[in-house]
Amino acid sequence: MDGKLDDRVAVVTGAARGIGLGIALSLFRAGFRVAIADIEGAAATASTFDPADRAMGVTLEVSNAEAWANAVARIIERWGRIDVLVNNAGVSPRSTPESTEEALWDRTMGINLKGPWLGVRACMPWLKQSRGSIINIGSTRATRPMRGLFVYGVSKAGLLGLTRQVAVEHLEDGVTCNMVAPGWVDTPGERVIQANYGRPDFPIGVQNLTTSEDVGEAVAYLVTPSGKKVNGVVLYLDSGLHAADDAGMVYLPDVARHRYHQPQNRPEPES
Ligand SMILES: NC(=O)c1ccc[n+]([C@@H]2O[C@H](COP(=O)([O-])OP(=O)(O)OC[C@H]3O[C@@H](n4cnc5c(N)ncnc54)[C@H](O)[C@@H]3O)[C@@H](O)[C@H]2O)c1
Repeated sequence: MDGKLDDRVAVVTGAARGIGLGIALSLFRAGFRVAIADIEGAAATASTFDPADRAMGVTLEVSNAEAWANAVARIIERWGRIDVLVNNAGVSPRSTPESTEEALWDRTMGINLKGPWLGVRACMPWLKQSRGSIINIGSTRATRPMRGLFVYGVSKAGLLGLTRQVAVEHLEDGVTCNMVAPGWVDTPGERVIQANYGRPDFPIGVQNLTTSEDVGEAVAYLVTPSGKKVNGVVLYLDSGLHAADDAGMVYLPDVARHRYHQPQNRPEPES
């Protein structure tokens, strides 16, 4: 525990693992009580926090308004306030405009875009009271599209619009709203995705990976008094990826580029 313990409460969605867990740990270390909200594994992850009574697991399907109402009611009943909302839960399907099934569109938009809005709506009465902070976990793909990430990229671009709109709507309430946009992060979900796309050795060969801890520390900064001066922006944590034309490839050294992007050119394995 680095920070001084206090009464403030942070709600982090998708926090049972991956980036969300990194964020929950950073806020916990900064002194927050943390609600770990996830569709699965929330209680088990919360039980690993020490002291355990400053973390609570909340089962939450972020795309469901009633689930949000129940989750907020539980948190308020136990701790009586909400100071920080981190909308992190997300899915990253691969698809093109033509290959996207309607059900995939609805599911992705439901989790990645409607979910954050429902979270903002459910938590806002409490965030107004605390003059609190909202952080949405976006992606460099919100502003730097990549082929094959159609519905994901659209959902994250929408999340950027939501971020700016919420920041403006609540300027006078003292509630800030920002987006943190990580580059590539080695998480359980990303490993499954990469294995499904024929890259079981991920993340070997990938340079400049962002870590879940990096994302957590950025979020922890945004909720400090100095960080509260930042509002309505995208904070990229991608070593400059978003600024590069060659966006999909700047992470990869030459050999790995061939391996990851041009399978027909893969070099023979070294004996
Ligand atoms: N990993 C990366 O390279 C990367 C890069 C940029 C942005 N992101 C974003 O970061 C966020 C977290 O990604 P990750 O890599 O840690 O993913 P992950 O799959 O490892 O973890 C996601 C967590 O969200 C939970 N979740 C999924 N659907 C949910 C739902 N409907 N309701 C509640 N919880 C749900 C899962 O149970 C899981 O615990 C996502 O929004 C993702 O788009 C990830």
